[in-house]
Amino acid sequence: MDIKNVVVVGAGQMGHGIAQMSLLGGYNVTLVDIKEEFLNNGRNKIEEGMKKLESKGQLPNNKTAADFMKNCRTSLDLSLAIKDADLMIEAVIEKMDVKKQVFETAGNHAPDHCILASNTSTMSITEIGENSGRPDKCIGMHFFNPVPLMRLIEVIHSQDSSEESIKIGMDFARSIPCLRGKRYIAEVLKDKPGFICNRVTAPVQIYQNYVFDKCAEEGYSWDQLDNDSRGGPMSMTILADYVGIDVLYHGQMYYAKTLSPDFAPGKVITQLYNEGKLGAKTGQGFRDWSKGRPQVDKSAGKARIYKLKYPIAIMLNEGCRVLEEGITNSWKVIDDTLMAGMNMPGPMAPNVKTYPKQIEVLKELVELTGKKYFEPCELLRSGKWVDMK
Ligand SMILES: NC(=O)c1ccc[n+]([C@@H]2O[C@H](COP(=O)([O-])OP(=O)(O)OC[C@H]3O[C@@H](n4cnc5c(N)ncnc54)[C@H](O)[C@@H]3O)[C@@H](O)[C@H]2O)c1
Repeated sequence: MDIKNVVVVGAGQMGHGIAQMSLLGGYNVTLVDIKEEFLNNGRNKIEEGMKKLESKGQLPNNKTAADFMKNCRTSLDLSLAIKDADLMIEAVIEKMDVKKQVFETAGNHAPDHCILASNTSTMSITEIGENSGRPDKCIGMHFFNPVPLMRLIEVIHSQDSSEESIKIGMDFARSIPCLRGKRYIAEVLKDKPGFICNRVTAPVQIYQNYVFDKCAEEGYSWDQLDNDSRGGPMSMTILADYVGIDVLYHGQMYYAKTLSPDFAPGKVITQLYNEGKLGAKTGQGFRDWSKGRPQVDKSAGKARIYKLKYPIAIMLNEGCRVLEEGITNSWKVIDDTLMAGMNMPGPMAPNVKTYPKQIEVLKELVELTGKKYFEPCELLRSGKWVDMK
């Protein structure tokens, strides 16, 4: 199928990025939101982004920002905007009832061939599409933030997606430019919480909750904890604030419901959430952000609670669960997905020979934290995952 017209629903952080990159890919884009003000904001950000590329001479075929913006329309009425669409990408707030409503309206008004994709980070694509009247044409298309710079797009099979819909989604995803390197498209074979990238890293949050709570109990400062984890792109508490305490809290509640109760938010995260200290966006979280990005006091010493060997073993174990559940059938896909979505080397390749040691690390972690979720899964213990390249 030849895609020409794309409707992006939701003009927020993700929607405007998806729209900008789709325009750059040569598509006509209609941006839909619920208020004129949100549409204007989204459109202005797209235009700013295009002008910046123009000023750096980075627009293709000697085109100007105006050439691309000509192909960008806005609308407050999805039922009209979708009438001549070939593909819809939904990027509205992360609420199931809102997403289901968008899919129902789109399904009622779009041409029969139109594919309906959701950019949800966590929710079931199968459920989102169930009232659309075309479940075989519903797929997941999960971009990463910021869309222009993060190379990964996960294309997700719902329980009902047809092979043809997935192929159209994969081809479209491959045609979307990326400003930093070549896009990597991961095909996600099962509609399971967190898909691949977020799923493999999710249980590290169980360990982080243990570390935050232990640190508070033993009276260490966040500077001392952050000195434990120095060397990464951002220290632990600053990263948590940057992502948003509410995002972590809701994500952990969701995984507690769908994967294991061990994901339930810890004491520290729950307290910050209840006090409305949501991180960078509210000016206060673990840290004070009122004067800009906080700096770690390197002279504070170390808490010596956080140990890097645990997250690596945790991600290897979760990668094996992802293989066990058939979410992908290749560990190389897991490593490549993590690199493209988080700029993080994956846990699988480095452990092909050393995985028995990681099994011991995981057993130690179960002892330390009391969290059964860290028990090495069957596929990891058997070593058979090594052949699933
Ligand atoms: N922010 C991220 O890092 C990130 C990464 C990957 C995926 N996602 C997912 O992308 C989606 C959007 O996230 P975001 O960060 O862009 O949120 P956002 O809050 O920045 O934007 C959401 C937009 O949707 C609009 N909206 C709400 N209801 C609507 C409706 N019925 N019709 C049309 N528009 C509607 C809102 O007005 C808002 O402009 C969520 O599902 C989120 O989980 C977010």
